[in-house]
Amino acid sequence: MAKLKQVYICQECGYESGKWMGKCPSCNEWGSLVEEVVEAKKPSLTAPSSRGAASSAPVKLRDVKIENETRTTTGMKELDRVLGGGIVKGSLILVGGDPGIGKSTLLLQICEELGNQNRQVLYISGEESVAQIKMRGERLNVHTENLNLLAETNMSFIEAHIKNTKPDLVILDSIQTVYCDDITSAPGSVSQVREATHKLMNLGKGYGITIMIVGHVTKEGALAGPRVLEHMVDTVLYFEGERHASFRILRAVKNRFGSTNEIGVFEMQDVGLKEVLNPSEIMLAGRPMDVAGSLVSCSLEGTRPMLIEVQALASFTSFGMPRRTATGIDYNRMVILIAVLEKRAGLDMGNYDVYVNLAGGMRINEPSLDLAAALAIASSFRNTPIDPHTVVFGEVGLTGEIRGVAMAEKRVVEAAKLGFKTCIMPKANVEKLPFIKGIKVIGVSHIGEALEVITVR
Ligand SMILES: Nc1ncnc2c1ncn2[C@@H]1O[C@H](COP(=O)(O)OP(=O)(O)OP(=O)(O)O)[C@@H](O)[C@H]1O
Ligand SMILES: [Mg+2]
Repeated sequence: MAKLKQVYICQECGYESGKWMGKCPSCNEWGSLVEEVVEAKKPSLTAPSSRGAASSAPVKLRDVKIENETRTTTGMKELDRVLGGGIVKGSLILVGGDPGIGKSTLLLQICEELGNQNRQVLYISGEESVAQIKMRGERLNVHTENLNLLAETNMSFIEAHIKNTKPDLVILDSIQTVYCDDITSAPGSVSQVREATHKLMNLGKGYGITIMIVGHVTKEGALAGPRVLEHMVDTVLYFEGERHASFRILRAVKNRFGSTNEIGVFEMQDVGLKEVLNPSEIMLAGRPMDVAGSLVSCSLEGTRPMLIEVQALASFTSFGMPRRTATGIDYNRMVILIAVLEKRAGLDMGNYDVYVNLAGGMRINEPSLDLAAALAIASSFRNTPIDPHTVVFGEVGLTGEIRGVAMAEKRVVEAAKLGFKTCIMPKANVEKLPFIKGIKVIGVSHIGEALEVITVR
């Protein structure tokens, strides 16, 4: 029997050490080193047969033949958009997300569409029994003949099944539940997750099988397992959203076959995930009218503009240290905006608690939301509502200047489409903007100017 060796592996970055340390020297994370038992001499990870003989010899660039990239549509436009136009044959896709967010639901729904396209799908679950999957399938209306279910956690059996049946798509739910016999550490540990993914990668690339794996997320919001897992796969998708709200957002964090800017919006219903093709309308539904501190902005996710309500509340406090809380936007950015309002526009908020919130549980990091957040704070501070048919976007600089943003035209068109009458935006963008019917455009170049515009009208 091969000699066993004790090592300490960082659960964040995969760093290995012979002795325990409080802090990982590679990623500087505290308390992340966990004891694992591995075989002293590991078998070679890539067996030559699994990779094909041709790949081991260098080839001239001009001699490389490109096969047409074959993409399969998943039947869900939102998912196709995030993937860059459909699933690429032979790719390895990792889907991460909080517990109960709907990962298994999304993947089971894909099975139905692919099955109907006459593709063989193998759904391997290490978490649920086949009866449980069937029950979910009934609820989601999944009845395809081409779907095979397998409740299995041993990687050797999984490999054997895949080799025997050679399906077009394999779904593994989840990578943390499977284990390889040749590694003694517990399922879900770094070495197990890494080895299992490696095996799947070789299988997928060797046989041209698309593999989608589910990965659990730690409480810090990162994928459980080392970062190497993200490096190994072709695409990393994150499924996020407030668990108690029905909206779910699918984001590509990494994509070797497409842009990582696009997002997909879904709504969780009892019959499964429904695509939201026009998120702006839903984001604005139920918005309060003529209330101080509420303002609509337009953010751009990938190529798609999305209108979103920014809310702010500035309330007087007698404590020396006012409270500042940001939900949905970056906290530091909000603090900067308050400082800019104080210094450049003369609003004295030293005795005011300030809260900023993006409605609908959205999280957006785009600087074009700055101006809307600043004006919403000012509106709440002065207790004066802003016309509800106004949309605002622009980046605010430290001197109070309003800087231009990308793709302004798309944003204005989206606002006009949803019936907004006025758009307050950076002057730099207005100069290049063509005429857009139904909406009055006001260009501003300084935060003070923007504050005047909203007060005068
Ligand atoms: N009958 C139902 N009606 C509406 N929504 C439901 C229903 N049953 C389940 N759900 C939703 O589906 C979610 C569970 O989905 P799913 O099992 O796909 O999540 P998951 O991400 O795979 O979770 P886990 O990490 O536990 O595997 C629940 O949190 C709930 O929001
Ligand atoms: Mg699940």
